[in-house]
Formats: sequence, C-alpha cells, structure tokens
Amino acid sequence: MPAAVRPDEGVVVAPGVHWIGALDPGLRSFDIILRTANGTSYNAYAVRGSAGVAVIDTVKENFSATFFARLEAVADYAEITTIVLNHLEPDHSGALPELLRRAPQARLYVSHQARPMLKGLFNPAEFAGRITAVGTGDTVSLGDRELEFFNTPYLHWPDTQCTWLAAEGLLFSGDFLGCHYCDARLFNDAVGDFRFSFDYYYGHIMRPFRAHVRQALDLIEPLPLLTIAPAHGPILRDDPRDYVRRYRALSKSGLHNTTAKTLLVFYISAYGATRRMAEAVAAGAESAAAEGGGAGELRVSLYDIEGSEPQPFVDLIEEADALIFGSPTINGDAVKPVWDLLSSLTMVDVKGKLGAAFGSYGWSGEAVPMIEDRLRRLKLRVPVPGVKARLAPTDDEFAACRRLGREAALHLLGRAEARVIDMAALA
Ligand code: FEO
Repeated sequence: MPAAVRPDEGVVVAPGVHWIGALDPGLRSFDIILRTANGTSYNAYAVRGSAGVAVIDTVKENFSATFFARLEAVADYAEITTIVLNHLEPDHSGALPELLRRAPQARLYVSHQARPMLKGLFNPAEFAGRITAVGTGDTVSLGDRELEFFNTPYLHWPDTQCTWLAAEGLLFSGDFLGCHYCDARLFNDAVGDFRFSFDYYYGHIMRPFRAHVRQALDLIEPLPLLTIAPAHGPILRDDPRDYVRRYRALSKSGLHNTTAKTLLVFYISAYGATRRMAEAVAAGAESAAAEGGGAGELRVSLYDIEGSEPQPFVDLIEEADALIFGSPTINGDAVKPVWDLLSSLTMVDVKGKLGAAFGSYGWSGEAVPMIEDRLRRLKLRVPVPGVKARLAPTDDEFAACRRLGREAALHLLGRAEARVIDMAALA
C-alpha cells in the first residue's frame, strides 16, 4: 500500500480545502458490531476563505496529535473562525474540546438537535457564547465563500447534518455516504475497490433510517455535486453522483405492489405442532382478506426459518407490515434461530409494524411471552394476544391460531373491531 500521505501534512481536496484527518488501518471492529476488514479513516477538513478558516469535523481522541499536526500544516489557530461538527459521535468529536481551546475566537456550528447533546462531550459553560445551532439554509461566511447547512437527521444519530461549500461543489456529508475503508491514497479514483464496504456500511448504519436517507437525498440530489467528502472512507471526487444513486437504490422500497399490506409468518418446528399452528395463523389471515372482498389488499407469506439464514428474511421484514413468529419452547426459551432472526431486526426500521407470537410447548411455554416482549421492545405494536398450545394443539387451539391470524390481518386492513375490555374479568 503506497504511503500517499505523510502524518504531518494536509492533502488538497479542492482549491483552499485540505483533508486533515487520520488513518486507522488496524481497526477491525467499529462500535463493536461492525467488521472493518480494511480499518477506517476519520476524515476532517480545513476550508480557507478570504476572511477565515473553517474546520469541518475532528477525529477520534487518540488520533488528535495527527489531526492537529495536519491542521497546523495548513492554517494557524488564530485564522480559524469557524468549527463545524456534522455529527457528535466520539470518532468525530474526540479532538473538539481541545480545538475550541486552541482557537478561542472560533464559533462552533452544530445542528439544532446536536446543541443540547453537546453537554455529553464537554462542560458547555467552558465554551459559553461560542456555539450556534443551524438548520437547512443557514450559512456562515468565510469571506469570499460560504458554508451552507443541510439538516439531515438520523444518519445515523439525531444530530447529523451535511455542510455544503457551493464555491467548490463540495459536500461534507458526515457518516452519510461514507464507509469504513482505510486507504492512504484517499480518493475514490485512487484507492482499491471499496464497493463491498460502501454497501456494508449502508446496510449496518444507514439502513434502519432509510426514510431519513431518502429525505436527505431529496436535499442533496439537486446540488451541482463535484465532490463528496464523507467522514469515513474515500473522498468521492470521481462521479460522486454514482454514490448518491447507489444510496437511492438501496433505500427505496423493493416491492412492486406497494398497495398490498404484507403479513409474514415465520416459524420453526421440532415435531410439526408449531408448523401446523403457523399454517392455521396464515389461513386465518387469508380468511380476513377474503371477507373484505378486497383481492390483492393483503399478501400473506409463510416461512420455515430452519431453511434459511436470517439475512434474506431481514430484507422481507423491512418491507412487511406484520411479523408473526412461531417458536416452540425448549429449556424455558424460544429457540436460537428465532432469536437470531429477532436480533437481526435492529438492522431495519420495524417501529410501528404489527407483531405477534405463537408456539407449542412441553411444560412451561415461555417462548411466546418472551417473543412478544422482544417485539414490544423493538417498538412493534402487539395488539393481538399470542397463542400457546401444549404438545399437540387441540381443535380449540388451532381455532385460536386462526383467530390470531385473522385479527392481525384485520388490524392491518383497518377493520379490527374495537376491543371491549371486561374490567371484571381482569380482577
Ligand atoms: Fe462516524 Fe456515527 O460516527
């Protein structure tokens, strides 16, 4: 790997714009959950105008020495008028308090959402009167050029924003459109093939927030983009719009028939009891659709999760409206393939979807309430009580499964009857 950048120099990104970040090639996992086969970079930038210098983002704290050395190579602290933090996570804010101390005349610009979160980074009293909250359309002048802000929240924290340097067609995008791929050659037309990392980063960081991704793309797509300078990974100067198109494709709905509600029944079964319960749940859901006479308004699917890895199901779940899980209880718990699938749901936005559970058991039957609890904690709605059956389900228990499927479907279709709670029965 060519050492394309010395540890004490900035790298020209555009006229008057330098990369002053840090490389972390040895990192192998990020935020515990992300694998980083190629390490990562913490990208920060200095933008020179006729009336001052702006610093966009900083680096992880233990890379501060490199960051300050690079900054000092391109600007004096006395020239810094503006510090922009596009995202507060420590990999970008680690050197911020020290930078504010070294450049005491500089103002800090963060999003409105970030403003109250700053107290998690430092004592706001230390920098009182030096912090400005900004939103979409706000600008800050550097003299002959200005920075404009775009509020792009939940990419992937509430505080995230992008910063636009119109004079150079350059978007400082934060984590958005970035990836964990460390290569000292820095630019997308010079580094190795990082497409796998770009998609992996989207899948694990941005995907749960894809509605927010689409809103951010609506803001960014009209810009005359020449360069995208993210906070991690290669700087995108060769066909930056190609990466915007990739995000648009990754974040759009995959279903052709977007009007039909989708209800998925997942199950795993040791001796066939939970499988037959699953079939009854699916049949009940189908019957609700048939009652309404609205052919095509509900699509019901049934999957044995023993037959697949979780990932393809996660893709289906992202598009679905209702998720019903069937698990036997073994040793007082739902079985591992069910938990594996449920733990994968953190990769997608499931908030507000409808959830339910069912399953057979031998003597205790904890799986159903445990799954229901997990679904509620993931912020799914669980309006229909689960169904448990001891060993081989009885006809009544199969009927309860059909009712579960039917009621779940009616909720989806907006035809659920208001439930009258008998207070006496609760006593
Ligand atoms: Fe790169 Fe969300 O921090």
